[in-house]
Amino acid sequence: MKFIVLILLLLFVFNQAQVQITPRIQCKTKKCEGDNFCFQGYCTSCEGPRSLWNKRKPLWGTKVGEALQVPAFSNFGDLDVLDSSKDEFLEDSINNFGEEIYIGQKYQCVHYARKFWIQNFNVTFGSVDNAEQIFDLQEAYNINSKQNINLQKFQNGGIETPILGDLLIWQKDDGEFPYGHVAVVLNVDLESDYPHVLIAEQNYDQIWDTRNFSRALKITLGEKKEINISNNRQTFPTKDDLKCRDDLYTSQGVILGWIRLKIQ
Ligand SMILES: *[C@@H]1O[C@H](CO)[C@@H](O)[C@H](O)[C@H]1NC(C)=O
Ligand SMILES: *[C@@H]1O[C@H](CO)[C@@H](O)[C@H](O)[C@H]1NC(C)=O
Ligand SMILES: *[C@@H]1O[C@H](CO)[C@@H](O)[C@H](O)[C@H]1NC(C)=O
Repeated sequence: MKFIVLILLLLFVFNQAQVQITPRIQCKTKKCEGDNFCFQGYCTSCEGPRSLWNKRKPLWGTKVGEALQVPAFSNFGDLDVLDSSKDEFLEDSINNFGEEIYIGQKYQCVHYARKFWIQNFNVTFGSVDNAEQIFDLQEAYNINSKQNINLQKFQNGGIETPILGDLLIWQKDDGEFPYGHVAVVLNVDLESDYPHVLIAEQNYDQIWDTRNFSRALKITLGEKKEINISNNRQTFPTKDDLKCRDDLYTSQGVILGWIRLKIQ
């Protein structure tokens, strides 16, 4: 017992010493490396803001933002278990369109993407087991004209710029994205010093960075203007703490590309 106490004491002293010897790095002119952000002129660990955000995650069903009049809700605490009680159908769709229109399961990422296409284009897409499969869809369905519409597919890293309404698709992996992920493109800025794409989505951080878009993802432009979108926020100098919302694991998420309705 005494031995354990001694070890704990040593560990404590050692930790304290580590904290004290960490040199303070100034960040007035250069970016902070690693898991640090610029706070009051010094590089500071991201752990503080990250734990605050995690505490502020809104309860399941809380509205977290809205883009083009399509509201997004928190899916916090959902166990990702398929649960038909969370199925949502378009209200009055039988009266308006002569058929019941399925939106998706509240409040998954696919639910938001379908809702956005239905509300803005009267278009839906077929059933998928996970968000990655959206990238393989060949066509969507116009619920008004009852016609199928071809989808165009663009690989990340190509020269085609995404446009409003395109669906960005994340690859499935064993870590953070077991089902892939999907988000709606709102706006793209390639000209700024901080190239980025604004997106709207559900079931990512469960809280949007602003009320009208969920994240501004970083774009890296290649030599031939190839567009490479990464699953990291673009860091604007005035909002350096936002980089802390991405971590080592989420940063490994791969964006496959985007799909577009041909009518646009
Ligand atoms: C969708 O269809 C409904 C019913 O026909 C129509 O009232 C509405 O204007 C359409 N919306 C769009 C965005 O096309
Ligand atoms: C895109 O960027 C990622 C991360 O920087 C890199 O690993 C990947 O090779 C790039 N892909 C393309 C197509 O440029
Ligand atoms: C978000 O809101 C701000 C300020 O209200 C506005 O300037 C900006 O254009 C909006 N962005 C989008 C994508 O709607």
